[in-house]
Amino acid sequence: MTIASDYSEKIPNNVGLADDRRLQRALEAWQPNFLSWWESMGPALPTQDVYLRTAVNVGREGWAHFGFVPMRDYRWGIFLAERDAGRRIGFGEHKGEPACQKVPGEYRSDLRRLIVVQGDTEPASVEQQRNLGATAPSLYDLRNLFQVNVEEGRHLWAMVYLLQAYFGRDGRDEAEELLHRNSGSEDSPRILGAFNEETPDWLSFYMFTYFTDRDGKYQLGTLKESAFDPLSRTCEFMLKEEAHHMMVGTTGVDRMVERTAQLMIEHDTDDPGPLGAIPLPVIQKYLNFHYSVSLDLFGGETSTNVANYYTAGLKGRWLEGRRADDHRLSSDSIMVDALVDAGNGERSIGQTEVEALTGLNTDLRREYIRDCASGVSRWNKILAEAGLPHRLQLPHAAFNRQVGAFAGIEASPDGEMLTADEWDRRKGAWLPTDVDKTFVRSLMRPVHERGKIAAWIAPPRNGINGKPFDYDYVRL
Ligand SMILES: [Fe+2]
Ligand SMILES: [Fe+2]
Repeated sequence: MTIASDYSEKIPNNVGLADDRRLQRALEAWQPNFLSWWESMGPALPTQDVYLRTAVNVGREGWAHFGFVPMRDYRWGIFLAERDAGRRIGFGEHKGEPACQKVPGEYRSDLRRLIVVQGDTEPASVEQQRNLGATAPSLYDLRNLFQVNVEEGRHLWAMVYLLQAYFGRDGRDEAEELLHRNSGSEDSPRILGAFNEETPDWLSFYMFTYFTDRDGKYQLGTLKESAFDPLSRTCEFMLKEEAHHMMVGTTGVDRMVERTAQLMIEHDTDDPGPLGAIPLPVIQKYLNFHYSVSLDLFGGETSTNVANYYTAGLKGRWLEGRRADDHRLSSDSIMVDALVDAGNGERSIGQTEVEALTGLNTDLRREYIRDCASGVSRWNKILAEAGLPHRLQLPHAAFNRQVGAFAGIEASPDGEMLTADEWDRRKGAWLPTDVDKTFVRSLMRPVHERGKIAAWIAPPRNGINGKPFDYDYVRL
């Protein structure tokens, strides 16, 4: 067997890798670096086999295969959604023209940047989650963590494929850089703020997969609209896997809230902490943190770069095809968050009208916020059904922001503007304190026995792929 055919078999793909010598060489050079990155920055807990889903196809007959694999042997494949030969550009100044199969020369560096920024988030989250295996609340949860990790690894492959196949030498350099930057590194951090934060415990992990992975879903949704067809098809396929990451976050928080509510009712107390569950105010603080840093990922309220990406056809809107307008937006406007003149020489939290094109970040963030609100009402339903009056809520968009119109001010979760002193005095009531973090960490004891689960979380309603909760999802 030649190395070439070995490679195209090792890397399941539908991009004709077996016939593309140049791409094979680029991937062959990159793959050992990927594996050493995975060994040193990927999941730290040693395991034997894990019951994992592997993408193997894109057809309607089923795209994934489930089975036990040692993680290092996971077959990170390269898949693009099936090509629609008649696809046309859906927005911007090239609307109606056939989708591009090659990189349009004038947009080359913008496109490369979009791919690099998306690609950078994928390995970042693997790095952030690297030590969580040691404290997993059950084998089911441990398996889900690893599933998310290998798929984020595959998403990195997906972006590296685009860089290597379409961007020549600079694409290969960028592919190396994606392994060189590291989450939280002083010298070469990941590009976006939320991806340099720690994910030190499972409460953070579920909030991360709910709020931060959901940003990924929205970014992929806009890139799926891209005129550059290989990017569009890549993102479309990634969204299939992303649905599982959303499920892990949504049901993870469900199960924590359920367990907390159960102990509050059983013991008639507002503080189930001493009983080994996470008190609702602590869950709320973690929610506040992850939501606010995820809002930052959408960038400033207005952006001429993003307006240009739209006009060029590189990055569309969420569900572009369902929007009832001209898909060019040259004469529309939108209200965006802003600090406005309060009339007395002071500034206050408000809104201002801008051209729709420059306000596209706001448009996307708004879609995202609506989606986040649906999670909160779901968790509140669990509280209501348990018979509790307590409710969780999304903090105001001005709360704890480092990017955009509210980066320079402080605000409470209710949207009240605060002086810096007031903020310092009160922020411990709204964001996790060292005491909260230490408490949460004290609950994080591993439960690696089949069918058992930690006391701070309820078991899931369903297992994976029809298997029961007490299946041996991970062999340690
Ligand atoms: Fe991803
Ligand atoms: Fe994800």
